[in-house]
Amino acid sequence: MKAQRTHVWRGWRLVVLGCGAAAAALVLVVTTGSASAQEEQAPQFDSEYCLGCHANPGMQTTLPSGEVLDLTFDVAAHEASVHGPYDIPCVLCHTDVTGFPHEPLDVADLRVWTLERNQSCANCHEDEAESARDNVHAAALATGVREAAVCTDCHDAHNARKPVAHTPEVAETCGECHGEIYQLYEGSVHGEALATGNRDVPTCTDCHGVHDVGGPSQSEFHLFSPQICAGCHQDKELMDRYGVRADTFDTYIADFHGETVVLFEALAPGQETNKPVCIDCHGVHNIQSADNPDSQTFKDNILGTCQRCHPDASINFPSAWLGHYTPSADNALLVWLAGWFYKIVIPVTIGGMLGYVVLLSFRSRRSRKEAARG
Ligand code: HEC
Ligand code: HEC
Ligand code: HEC
Ligand code: HEC
Ligand code: HEC
Ligand code: HEC
Ligand code: HEC
Ligand code: HEC
Ligand code: HEC
Repeated sequence: MKAQRTHVWRGWRLVVLGCGAAAAALVLVVTTGSASAQEEQAPQFDSEYCLGCHANPGMQTTLPSGEVLDLTFDVAAHEASVHGPYDIPCVLCHTDVTGFPHEPLDVADLRVWTLERNQSCANCHEDEAESARDNVHAAALATGVREAAVCTDCHDAHNARKPVAHTPEVAETCGECHGEIYQLYEGSVHGEALATGNRDVPTCTDCHGVHDVGGPSQSEFHLFSPQICAGCHQDKELMDRYGVRADTFDTYIADFHGETVVLFEALAPGQETNKPVCIDCHGVHNIQSADNPDSQTFKDNILGTCQRCHPDASINFPSAWLGHYTPSADNALLVWLAGWFYKIVIPVTIGGMLGYVVLLSFRSRRSRKEAARG
């Protein structure tokens, strides 16, 4: 429904933009005299006019960097693109080209050209541009990392395409720049399943977002990463399909580590913590089933995983952890009691502290008033 409405709306915008531009041309022509005299400066809305030159093969120009900018427009590729059916006039994207001769081209190299031209996508795709505004790529660009992804890196320009969600196409798109991570991911339990046509496993954008791409440079991303996993791993129906237990998130929260992270989130929202989240034990892009000897959670590797944070841990240490098991009065009486102890003592302690602070502030205010009175 929403998608359909967006389509209609974007269609209208196309008409509005087109009419606006045509009106501007008319004004230009009318205010500057005869059409024929001004033909060369007046904006041309007919792509045919531009193609009169740009359909010629082998057209190119050399930028100051020495790089070559191809100027031939591939009509067939454009027609096959997502924009093909809409017959978008060139000048609605090339708003700065208003006939021939063109304004002198003032870009140092190819990347500057790409970064500049990309601004035009936002004219019609406001929602995507808005959600990309402060993502990790925009942040990298702002610090001068020119290779950070912009619209045409993932979509292309004249042959614009839309990667199909939940398919390897998405991972390949990101993998063009994140090659090492792509390779790790390909070999992970998620990546291998994706390659066999599974659409239930996460690809890059399910964990990082599509246009609002998030990453570990935003501290809350790490802190809230268990919630990303929980989105699927808490879904019993989904997990049942693969014979994977669906209580790993709940048992994580019930465990020392999870409980501490939750408490931490409440007291210091959005800040870094050294407490483990799922990925500290399972890995991120290389996640494997615990039965896989390469897995960080494989029985022979698990001690090493714990030792990263518990350097003194000995061979028995992992078994002291309950894994993803809910402590109950039967299987671990002491831990179960400790759990209840926490549930009662922590609220009482924090409540008591808060009460104390409130009383203290009352007291000091009264003292100040009494002092003021003399
Ligand atoms: C008479 C031939 C001719 C026509 C018509 C023409 N161009 Fe060009 N275009 C060129 C040439 C030649 C260049 C190479 C750079 C230059 O000379 O400005 C170029 C360069 C460009 C560039 C590269 C960047 C730049 O600004 O130089 C773009 C984009 C472009 N043209 C778009 C268009 C569009 C859009 C139209 C239609 C409104 C159009 N051209 C019509 C010949 C033409
Ligand atoms: C949907 C928007 C859009 C439309 C429609 C469009 N262009 Fe472009 N064009 C771009 C973008 C964006 C770039 C920069 C591509 C890049 O380097 O990332 C570009 C680049 C170019 C270039 C430089 C060569 C290159 O590949 O970078 C030329 C020449 C050009 N366009 C001409 C045209 C002509 C002629 C038309 C109409 C027949 C047209 N464009 C239609 C968006 C568009
Ligand atoms: C003049 C308006 C206009 C501009 C500028 C424009 N587009 Fe589009 N775009 C459209 C229209 C119209 C559609 C098809 C209807 C729709 O999907 O909303 C579309 C569709 C798309 C789609 C497919 C959407 C879907 O749901 O299937 C992608 C991807 C896309 N555009 C990318 C780009 C990129 C990248 C740029 C910049 C190079 C760009 N567009 C510039 C008008 C525009
Ligand atoms: C890092 C890669 C990347 C960048 C950069 C990017 N996109 Fe996308 N975009 C995607 C992927 C992947 C999809 C496929 C949709 C999905 O996975 O849900 C998509 C989908 C879309 C769609 C279709 C909308 C929909 O709901 O399906 C449009 C339109 C679009 N992008 C426009 C843009 C525009 C405009 C920009 C620049 C502001 C941009 N994209 C930047 C990767 C990217
Ligand atoms: C199962 C969820 C998940 C999937 C799938 C995933 N990521 Fe990640 N990714 C994460 C998490 C969580 C982090 C943050 C790790 C941390 O906090 O230390 C991360 C970190 C990153 C980083 C920055 C840190 C680094 O290692 O350089 C990049 C870049 C990245 N991912 C790209 C990708 C790409 C590209 C893909 C697809 C090929 C992908 N991710 C697939 C969850 C995922
Ligand atoms: C055109 C190249 C390019 C493409 C395509 C690309 N990225 Fe990136 N990405 C970068 C660059 C460059 C950085 C910044 C690296 C740095 O700061 O060192 C980055 C950074 C990241 C980070 C790390 C941010 C952090 O917090 O440290 C994540 C996560 C990420 N990209 C995810 C993705 C995903 C998901 C896709 C696909 C949808 C994608 N990227 C596609 C170039 C790209
Ligand atoms: C988009 C849904 C989704 C997300 C998000 C997701 N997973 Fe998965 N995960 C799956 C599915 C589905 C499987 C089963 C794949 C199969 O067996 O083919 C799986 C399998 C696994 C397995 C292997 C289970 C086994 O024993 O076979 C582990 C471990 C795992 N995921 C951990 C994680 C972690 C950690 C995160 C977060 C960083 C995460 N997953 C995010 C859907 C997801
Ligand atoms: C302290 C380390 C640690 C943390 C934190 C952790 N796990 Fe695990 N996880 C393990 C170990 C070890 C195993 C294998 C033995 C077991 O099942 O207890 C495992 C097993 C799993 C399995 C496989 C279960 C099956 O049926 O095959 C999944 C799925 C899983 N974890 C997901 C998660 C998710 C999601 C999180 C975060 C919410 C998480 N884990 C947090 C260590 C951890
Ligand atoms: C990313 C770092 C990290 C990893 C990896 C990690 N832990 Fe911990 N663990 C901690 C921190 C920090 C605490 C203290 C939590 C607190 O203050 O409540 C803790 C507390 C514990 C406790 C509570 C008792 C104690 O010693 O304080 C146990 C038991 C425990 N971890 C077991 C494990 C096991 C078993 C593994 C491996 C499967 C593991 N941890 C992996 C950081 C980690």
